[in-house]
Amino acid sequence: MCGIFCYYGKENTFETIREGLKKIEYRCHDSCGISVSNGNTETVRSLNSPDNLKLPSISSIQMGIGHTRWATHGEVSIPNAHPHVYNHQSLVHNGTIANHNKIKEEIKSLGFDTIGDTDTECFAALTSHLGSLSESLKRITDRYAVAWMTRSKMFISKDRMSLYVGQYKDGFLVCSDLSVLLEYTNKIMELKDKKCYKICWTNKELVFKTHKQSKQIEENNTEDTFMMQEILEQPEIIEGIYNKKRTRYHQSFSFGPTCIIGSGSSYYAGLIGKFMEVANHVICASEIDSYDLNQYRTFDPYEPNVLKALIISQSGETADCIRAIESISNYNHGGGAVEEIYSLTNNLQSTIGKSTMAIDLLAGPEKSVCSTKTFTAQLAHLMMCSYMDKDKYLPEKIQIILDNRNIIEGIPVSNNIIFIGKGSQYPIALEGALKMQEITYLPALAFPAGELKHGPLALLDESWTVVCLAPEDDNYKKMLLAAHEVKARHAKIIAITSGEEMKQLADYTIELPKTSEIESTILTAVVVQLLAYYKAKKLGRNIDRPRNLAKSVTVE
Ligand code: F6R
Repeated sequence: MCGIFCYYGKENTFETIREGLKKIEYRCHDSCGISVSNGNTETVRSLNSPDNLKLPSISSIQMGIGHTRWATHGEVSIPNAHPHVYNHQSLVHNGTIANHNKIKEEIKSLGFDTIGDTDTECFAALTSHLGSLSESLKRITDRYAVAWMTRSKMFISKDRMSLYVGQYKDGFLVCSDLSVLLEYTNKIMELKDKKCYKICWTNKELVFKTHKQSKQIEENNTEDTFMMQEILEQPEIIEGIYNKKRTRYHQSFSFGPTCIIGSGSSYYAGLIGKFMEVANHVICASEIDSYDLNQYRTFDPYEPNVLKALIISQSGETADCIRAIESISNYNHGGGAVEEIYSLTNNLQSTIGKSTMAIDLLAGPEKSVCSTKTFTAQLAHLMMCSYMDKDKYLPEKIQIILDNRNIIEGIPVSNNIIFIGKGSQYPIALEGALKMQEITYLPALAFPAGELKHGPLALLDESWTVVCLAPEDDNYKKMLLAAHEVKARHAKIIAITSGEEMKQLADYTIELPKTSEIESTILTAVVVQLLAYYKAKKLGRNIDRPRNLAKSVTVE
């Protein structure tokens, strides 16, 4: 999603910012721009990659602000890209501004008639009109990270979003992504919320701490795509998690009434948490505003108050999850409130990581937009929260699937796809359909196997592929029934199974190593990742950067 990278310094300023923006590219964007100043300002903007930005014509540049945009208000276009410039003052902004229409009216009445479609333009014009970032920020109620540059000064601020400043060469770097900033310097300061900082050499408010260098984002040298590289890392990651001791947070979360909250794949991981008996309730983070928390009392009269919550978020920056934390922190009824908020995140320094009792996902940086290794790592950590026995051979079993991936590559998957599963495999069916939609752009579906006969069977004919998630667990017999129904409608069956009857029914089988019912979800997750990957590859999709999506979803 949107990213900010600024440099207050003279050494190759424009190229330094352009390189910084390229490092943020993994978060995904659709346009970008840089403003530089040598006393006069010049701004360049483009669609897609920072490589498309033209070199500015001014020389002796002393500072600059840069941005990568992921469209929310207003279409993808060069005029909508940041920085937005009014009266030689440039502004870049992460976040959304809910009251921008009101500001727009005011600003237009003041003679700013060049305001386009975006919320940031209103903010930039207002700041320019007031001549002060701190004054204009008083009008913004939403979360934000912002940098504003006049002809000779740079100001930065943030509220509940990430923004860091680091000491670098002859000056300072400002960046919304800590892992990127750490590639340049480990002398870093995180801004305080709502405070406006002027960036200059004499600013005594900038106090840097030496940051422990985190693992760098590794370049992909071995595989075509980061997604495949990340799929292949899974045995090692799961082994690492299983071999570590349970942290005190793993232990304390799993005791008493609990609720798991997440978005997208992280929400689906949470759904499996219910089968691991670590959660009584699982809520999709984007639903929490409309979700009546009192419902807990209705559907579970013996546990009227949910006292613990676990936020699952790979990035730790998902806006829906941050909003959910705000909602549940304020929730209180019948004398009980959510007292302890834990998180499972791949970034302990993220907004969620820092505001909760955070468990490190230990999956290493994930560069492909589509989550793979972080999803299975989430499942492994939920196992660590539970008291269930673990299969110490699970990493080897994942490796067997990976070693036979050429079989999955060879299976034809049609453009009409349904994933079906029962019990704990149903969230994997949802995850399989999500992976397929994300990277192939095909409208893949997912249903609990027993639901087929209640409607979706009407879709089926020989043009459909139905992926049956069928480990030999308690649900296996019911999965066979569903597979018979599919076969009778001439759809093609891909079975992920070890069961002989299911293999007989299937057009194609992907052999599933045997493990516990719940850990089978980790194995089937790897298979559905590979099915989506090879289908996307055959369709020639941009696997690591699917259209319209962002790695870190920082807006609601
Ligand atoms: C799917 C995917 C998304 C994320 C979702 C939540 O492959 O990556 O659905 O799972 O945006 O992101 P985090 O876990 O960062 O909160």
